[in-house]
Amino acid sequence: MPVISIIGPKGGIGKTTLSINTAAALTRSLGNSLTHDSVCLFDLDLRLPTISSILESHPQKTFYDLFETLANKTYQVDFLQSIYRILTIFQANLDKEIKRDHPQLEKGLALYKTLNMELFHFSEFPFGNELHELFLERSQIYTVGQIRTLRPILKKIDMVQFKQILKKHEANSRPTADEYINYIEEFKFSLLGGEVPILGKRNHRKRINEPAFLLLFLEFVNDLIERFNYVILDTPAGGVNHLSSLMNSIDQVLFIFDMSNNIAVNGSIDALHSFIDYYEDFYEDYRQGRLSGLDKAYVNRMIASKGEAAVTETLANKKFGIIFNRCQKSGEIANCLDQLREYLDTLDRFDEYKDRIHLVGMVPHHKIINITNNRGTLFYDKDSALSNCINLVAENIISENEFSPTLSNSNDEILQFLQKNGKGSWMSRFNRIASSLG
Ligand SMILES: Nc1ncnc2c1ncn2[C@@H]1O[C@H](COP(=O)(O)OP(=O)(O)OP(=O)(O)O)[C@@H](O)[C@H]1O
Ligand SMILES: [Mg+2]
Repeated sequence: MPVISIIGPKGGIGKTTLSINTAAALTRSLGNSLTHDSVCLFDLDLRLPTISSILESHPQKTFYDLFETLANKTYQVDFLQSIYRILTIFQANLDKEIKRDHPQLEKGLALYKTLNMELFHFSEFPFGNELHELFLERSQIYTVGQIRTLRPILKKIDMVQFKQILKKHEANSRPTADEYINYIEEFKFSLLGGEVPILGKRNHRKRINEPAFLLLFLEFVNDLIERFNYVILDTPAGGVNHLSSLMNSIDQVLFIFDMSNNIAVNGSIDALHSFIDYYEDFYEDYRQGRLSGLDKAYVNRMIASKGEAAVTETLANKKFGIIFNRCQKSGEIANCLDQLREYLDTLDRFDEYKDRIHLVGMVPHHKIINITNNRGTLFYDKDSALSNCINLVAENIISENEFSPTLSNSNDEILQFLQKNGKGSWMSRFNRIASSLG
């Protein structure tokens, strides 16, 4: 299940355009072995998702609905379950069924102290007032011995009724994955994500900052992406602030280098370097067992589902690739490569990363590609030279970069590779495309 994330520092450099076309090219490359679960294009832009309108394909349920379900059902039930656990343990202690030094009691107390009550809808449940009271008291409770002071509140809560309510809410509390997967017959890949700007709603903006809620979202997303053979993530400019834990699941990070101006190129080089920093910190924290908060919780769940070796492998072998977009002259790629090598060298990173950073494709600046005429965004198959450019990216994804050059190769070798394609005619057409720009 390779997960490929397309990222870039700036808005408008072609992340979405290249994500969509890469998904189309992957679908084509997989040819006969294609099933509904082969390729998934995932719009991770929670602020302003665009792909579903670009492709004119509307999911049965959007991620906005997902947020609503997770917040109003899943989160509430998980919270109730936690309270039920806490109450049962505390009660057992008060009834002297378990002793003070019982490890469950320590755990129950820790859960009670740390549970985030911010997003729980107390008023929607019978005995909501009592539960609220229970949480207000927790600032006074530090030791297992002090649990007995909660006795009067615990007495007011009928555990049999609690269990019944819990059961009633448990049914139907999880979102159904199938409703969020939008298989598009015309393109033969699936689309995940929204069409409604989730973070436009204040409550959702609040939720996205709550680790416990975000974990629910990430878990659901992770289950969804595990179904597919290939997943292309389209990220918003500057990355996905809240979803950094997804780092664990990404196998290959593709940086878009916008060649249309020098400032954009400098920005991309800088972004690549910052990402490496960020990645190294994350990996080091993981190895030293220092991850905290959401990252830690997510890693633990991943380990539980895939095993530690697989999680370590994904992190240790994360691949970095570069796609040059909006190219006009091949000379500018050579310049950019020199600049990148020099930059990494100055930062003492070149030797370590020169064989890990692959050059996987280039796409010319082309008037066919035009998001204002939505359908133009999916240029794959509309122009054979452009399609071949994207085929190269797809082939590198499938071959896991076995054949693509790295920064260790010479500029000539890299350019030769980027200019080659199935039909060997890319360079001649490239010049024609560049000169037709007017
Ligand atoms: N190679 C290209 N030639 C011509 N136009 C292009 C090319 N690549 C992208 N564009 C155009 O640039 C604009 C921005 O592209 P796109 O939306 O894919 O960028 P983005 O990086 O996803 O932006 P955002 O950060 O806002 O999500 C679009 O109008 C698109 O059609
Ligand atoms: Mg975009």
